[in-house]
Amino acid sequence: MPNETLTITDNRTGKTYTLPIYKDAIRAIDLRQIKTGPEDFGLLSYDPAFLNTASCQSSITYLDGDRGILRYRGYPIEQLAEKCSFLEVAYLLLNGELPCEEQLDMWITDVTRHSMIHENLKKFMEGFHYDGHPMGMLMSTVAALSTFYPEARNIHDPGVRKLQIIRLIGKMPTLTAYSYRHSLGLPYVYPDNDLSYTKNFMNMLWRRTEPKFSANPVLARALEVLFILHADHEQNCSASTMRAVGSSFADPYATTAAAIAALSGPLHGGANEEVLRMLDEIGSKDKVPAYIEQIKAGHGKLMGFGHRVYKNYDPRARIIKRVAEEVFEVTGRNPKLDIALELERIALEDDFFIKRRLYPNVDFYSGIIYQAMGFTPDVFTVLFAIPRAVGWFAQWQEMLQDSEQKIARPRQIYTGEAVRQVVRIEERHPQTSALAAATVA
Ligand SMILES: CC(C)(COP(=O)(O)OP(=O)(O)OC[C@H]1O[C@@H](n2cnc3c(N)ncnc32)[C@H](O)[C@@H]1OP(=O)(O)O)[C@@H](O)C(=O)NCCC(=O)NCCS
Repeated sequence: MPNETLTITDNRTGKTYTLPIYKDAIRAIDLRQIKTGPEDFGLLSYDPAFLNTASCQSSITYLDGDRGILRYRGYPIEQLAEKCSFLEVAYLLLNGELPCEEQLDMWITDVTRHSMIHENLKKFMEGFHYDGHPMGMLMSTVAALSTFYPEARNIHDPGVRKLQIIRLIGKMPTLTAYSYRHSLGLPYVYPDNDLSYTKNFMNMLWRRTEPKFSANPVLARALEVLFILHADHEQNCSASTMRAVGSSFADPYATTAAAIAALSGPLHGGANEEVLRMLDEIGSKDKVPAYIEQIKAGHGKLMGFGHRVYKNYDPRARIIKRVAEEVFEVTGRNPKLDIALELERIALEDDFFIKRRLYPNVDFYSGIIYQAMGFTPDVFTVLFAIPRAVGWFAQWQEMLQDSEQKIARPRQIYTGEAVRQVVRIEERHPQTSALAAATVA
């Protein structure tokens, strides 16, 4: 049995400390005892962007970035994508186990019953400019829900929590569809509770004058698979935001709005939109080598490539590539696929990408499918937010029930000025800072 401890010698004092190792980690707080004297605060660990810091213990999602493995609650993502519906996977993530038939029926009924939104929310939508970004509309309307359900702030009541989770999973597609139709100037379509989660979403997006919308089953299933693949991804930027904001006991709508904000950035969920812009910019397959050279020369990044955790092929990208073929049989081939395939081929043979272990991530092919299905690029990230809400809630619940968690509050290493005295304004000399020097367009 190996000795599960770490011995550290502080060369400033010559003292030695033995720290316990727990599940291949040491507790950063154990470093605090390492001091040079009684006045010393104690040693901190410094880890910008949390490259090597576990912020929690979690039993939701397992990810092995080196081997390209992703599992929800122990089930391989490939099996879930093949055998389950999105709501089945949502149940799994939130409850820890796959539902039996009766539990699934009840769960579907619960979520479906909450797909309607308060009529006043439409007025919020109407306040947005027609070309406002759908993520901005989603973020704001989700935050607004907190004013409709004031009881939601009672986050320590498991029943209240469950109701808000069901509500929001039910309402995310409706809010998204409303923002989409608002941008097109189309009337809103109410949810149809006879339809599945994805078919109802498609109905709210695309129904025109027909009395009943009938979604293409291949496309509905493709959307279902994409939703499954996006449902959780352990401690990514938005999940960490959900946990951090939730740790102050903010209500779940405010907390989810913050997670949506985190997802909207181009380095996170916004990447799928950026991939499409990049493919448009490249224009054709023959321009790919020149584009790659430009990236290698330090001009931008290859969007949809690289990942903080995956240093191997993202298993979700592999599944999406297959789904793309199925979708294109219905919609016709998106010509951008050929540019993407060429980019992948060249990048995967190039030393620059090999050395840095940069592979296609989930966003590389998802946008091409969404576009073939009829979505415009600015909607892609909200398509990510709908299923990811499930993962956020699973993470939020786990955080609230974890007795080790407290309000998230990192430390810093202060690098600013030592104490200074304020002098009268007439005695000050102009100073330049990056902000002051910036030119405003
Ligand atoms: C996802 C991402 C933010 C991860 O970033 P990270 O873990 O901080 O990785 P780093 O930025 O430290 O990258 C390591 C090296 O690879 C390079 N690199 C990373 N992603 C790259 C990309 N997409 N294109 C070109 N170079 C890339 C970095 O420039 C860096 O090179 P260097 O060592 O010469 O400085 C980053 O890969 C990225 O910006 N990808 C494009 C956006 C994207 O697709 N996001 C979706 C993620 S699911």
